[in-house]
Amino acid sequence: MKATVRAHPNIALVKYWGKRDDALILPHQSSLSLTLAPIHVTTTVEFGAQADTVELHGHAAKGSERDRVLRLLDAVRVQAGRDLGPAKVVSRGDFPMAAGLASSAAGFAALAVAGRAAAGLPQDTRASSILARRGSGSACRSVQGGFCEWQRGERADGEDSYALQRFDAGHWADLRMVVAILDRGEKEVKSRDGMKNTVETSPYYPAWVKDAEAEVPRARELIARKDLEALGELCERNAWRMHSTSLAADPPLCYLNSSTLGLIQHLREQRKKGVPVWFTLDAGPNPVLLTDAAHEVAAEALARACGAVDVVRCVPGGDATLLSEHLF
Ligand code: DP6
Repeated sequence: MKATVRAHPNIALVKYWGKRDDALILPHQSSLSLTLAPIHVTTTVEFGAQADTVELHGHAAKGSERDRVLRLLDAVRVQAGRDLGPAKVVSRGDFPMAAGLASSAAGFAALAVAGRAAAGLPQDTRASSILARRGSGSACRSVQGGFCEWQRGERADGEDSYALQRFDAGHWADLRMVVAILDRGEKEVKSRDGMKNTVETSPYYPAWVKDAEAEVPRARELIARKDLEALGELCERNAWRMHSTSLAADPPLCYLNSSTLGLIQHLREQRKKGVPVWFTLDAGPNPVLLTDAAHEVAAEALARACGAVDVVRCVPGGDATLLSEHLF
């Protein structure tokens, strides 16, 4: 009862920011992301071990990190409807964890798919997406590749809150995302705490929810037409609005630093010179640049010129995949 799965992280083009249910991880609004290759996380789940053990990126997980993993596997046990015994989990990523690309998204997606496979449950993207969501919200969008839309859902039990693939990775193979690592430090306020503070205290939060929900179908349409310029503008606008609602929280949350602003400024100048490059920004200082294959080298050079200590070039990625399975 052992399975190994590889999953890619994803970058939200329309962000998820805020929960209506903290325990089930149900969002206030829908979001839309692109799965990123070649970077990935590989996770092995083995049931019937001596004791529960969780190893993440070479270290034994402790505290809430360990609890989150074990809670997800408890949900697998309920789905399997039988005693699977203690679990051994080993998970490792191949990209700089400080990149700000939630390694937890790829990690929990891989854990959900591997957990179900190790329990002998059939492959089911919807069930895996719901399970991954319960580990980390954004993880529900990493079960499948390409462009995935996390529908907020309406139900209180969360059974209609999962990600659907709208376009596969091949739909827009020419699209590039370039991660500019300006700062390797741990972020001061984790997404989970930052979004909770924003929901509870930002007077702009209701406007964010309404706006983000309306941006999802617009983004879908621009992706359908492969309109890079309009999608780039939408991404920037959505990132600014997420950060604006957070800046208006109490205490205020500012994830940008001076290097982030410097890069954004430089990006605008480059655009005026005809370089098609836009940014998005999660809950940290490291922007992710949106461009096409013909300009990814220019985007990397731009990031380095603005102080990036590392750059990760990404292409649209595929589904979480089962690498091996031993059921006995
Ligand atoms: C800014 O999915 O990491 O990256 O559900 O609390 O685990 P939890 O949060 P998480 O938050 C991601 C926030 C974001 C935007 C996004 O990926 O949509």
